[in-house]
Amino acid sequence: MSRPEPILDIRDLTAGYNAIPVVQGISLAVGRGEAVALLGANGAGKSTVLRAVSGLIRPKGGEVLLNGENVAGTGAEALVRKGLSHVAEGRRIFRKLSVEDNLDLGLASVSLSRAEVQRRLEEQYSLFPILKQKASDAAGSLSGGQQQMLAISQALIRKPDVVMLDEPSTGLAPILIEEVFTKLDQIREQGVSILLVEQVVERSLEFVDYAYLIQGGRLIAQGSPAELQKSNAVKQAYMGEVSIR
Ligand SMILES: Nc1ncnc2c1ncn2[C@@H]1O[C@H](COP(=O)(O)OP(=O)(O)OP(=O)(O)O)[C@@H](O)[C@H]1O
Ligand SMILES: [Mg+2]
Repeated sequence: MSRPEPILDIRDLTAGYNAIPVVQGISLAVGRGEAVALLGANGAGKSTVLRAVSGLIRPKGGEVLLNGENVAGTGAEALVRKGLSHVAEGRRIFRKLSVEDNLDLGLASVSLSRAEVQRRLEEQYSLFPILKQKASDAAGSLSGGQQQMLAISQALIRKPDVVMLDEPSTGLAPILIEEVFTKLDQIREQGVSILLVEQVVERSLEFVDYAYLIQGGRLIAQGSPAELQKSNAVKQAYMGEVSIR
């Protein structure tokens, strides 16, 4: 099956912390409109890939092409303006601020008319009705699942072309995990391309169009969900892990 032209094309990416290389020459692509999974056991380097792509850490080598432009080394805020949003690991929300103020903050670096801000808020509220109900509540008072929705919404309100999500299901009960995937489906239907890092492997493979598997900072397998399910690579990569579902 042929894949759409890449909107995000990561080529031979090397990244790490101080002198220690964690990610070593990884190439992966997200096609326009695709949902793609980046899988791997704890410590494989998944979050490091996302951090290096979104400008939170500086890649040590390789290229990151966003809409055809090499943006490797570009800072996080500039990348957001170019259409790439990153929902980082953990729920990075401002607990003391209201839900709506958190969403407004998502737009702090873009100058928009009040009417446009209002329009975007309403868009998010129709995707996540619970956030509308709780608009004036402190974000810290939301349940874990609701906080995750807020973190996702904060990224979407910037109207990214590509959103990268780092383990949005972590810490959520199965029914809420399902709700996250339902929202991800709706987000994809709106034309946003998705790069998803997840520990719930089986569920992620049901959702995505294509997947990459990394181990020890290197790519060890890639393919359609059906191809990966057939191969032993996934099981081997997670050997000793209990979180496969
Ligand atoms: N800030 C940091 N400083 C130094 N080393 C780090 C840092 N963050 C991660 N590492 C190391 O880099 C390696 C890859 O970590 P990373 O967080 O990218 O893995 P991961 O695949 O996202 O794992 P998990 O599934 O647990 O989130 C690990 O060995 C980790 O200890
Ligand atoms: Mg991680």
